Amino acid sequence: MKVNQPVRGVKVGRNDLCPCGSGKKFKRCCLAESVQTRPRTHPEKPKIRLKSASDVEGIRRAGRLVLATLDLVRERLEPGITTDMVNDWVHEFTLRNNATPAPLHYRGFPKSVCVSTNEEICHGIPGPRVLKQGDIVNVDVTTILEGYYADANKTFFVGEPGPQARKIVDVARQSLKEGMAMVKPGNSVGDIGWAIQTYAESQGCSVVRDFVGHGVGFDFHEPPQVPHFGQRGDGVRLVPGMVFTIEPMINAGGYELIVLDDQWTAITKDRSLSAQFEQTILVTPDGWESLTPYAL
Ligand code: MF3
Ligand code: CO
Ligand code: CO
Repeated sequence: MKVNQPVRGVKVGRNDLCPCGSGKKFKRCCLAESVQTRPRTHPEKPKIRLKSASDVEGIRRAGRLVLATLDLVRERLEPGITTDMVNDWVHEFTLRNNATPAPLHYRGFPKSVCVSTNEEICHGIPGPRVLKQGDIVNVDVTTILEGYYADANKTFFVGEPGPQARKIVDVARQSLKEGMAMVKPGNSVGDIGWAIQTYAESQGCSVVRDFVGHGVGFDFHEPPQVPHFGQRGDGVRLVPGMVFTIEPMINAGGYELIVLDDQWTAITKDRSLSAQFEQTILVTPDGWESLTPYAL
């Protein structure tokens, strides 16, 4: 090391040249950067951490991998495959892309993806169940890439759907769309739930109460909770930089559910069909952007 190259204890003034050698003033270069990338919090809810531009880029990259994973599953889904096979595809594809499947060992969850069929609402554990023609199957993928989490799911048809399967999947898909359309600064979390509940109930379906959307990005489940039912104007106000999921679970019958003895799989109490779609949504200055974008 050369002399006169102090390594610590140097106080750089705001108007000095930036020590990174850019030739710009410190305040216009690395100082500005360090201020910008420090996570800000929601003005009313300090536990809600807002995402910086570089955080958003990280979540978007994780989101691209989630979508590629869902595409891979869709291409291979057919009558005769087991839900364990879906787990193996997701697990191996995630690792091959230098990422981690968030569900694996999360609060004791034993597999790398949730696969929920027909009357199963969510948190289905992959196993020996064989998918058959006419089933509907929700595949919920959450991936950690370079420390950032993205979370999305879709409900697929196995073979050709019957009319009831088509109906519940269409209503669930449109429910997510209705919820996303409410996302803009100034609206609240309650506006999202209100729009979803109003639409789903107008179609003769019900909205699951016991599971909600959630903040996501730095962790799997962050504040706030995002219910898929509620009143206009209720709950936390939306501000740019918030990232959360919207993931309505819609039942053909009642909203009541039972959790099976495996402690995870939630099924409809009346055994009616249930479907779900989920995306990870960023609140932007004039609305929203999906960080796991797919057409609805
Ligand atoms: N991906 C689910 C969600 O949308 C959570 C699954 S938790 C797990 O919030 F442990 F079951 F994976
Ligand atoms: Co989620
Ligand atoms: Co999910």
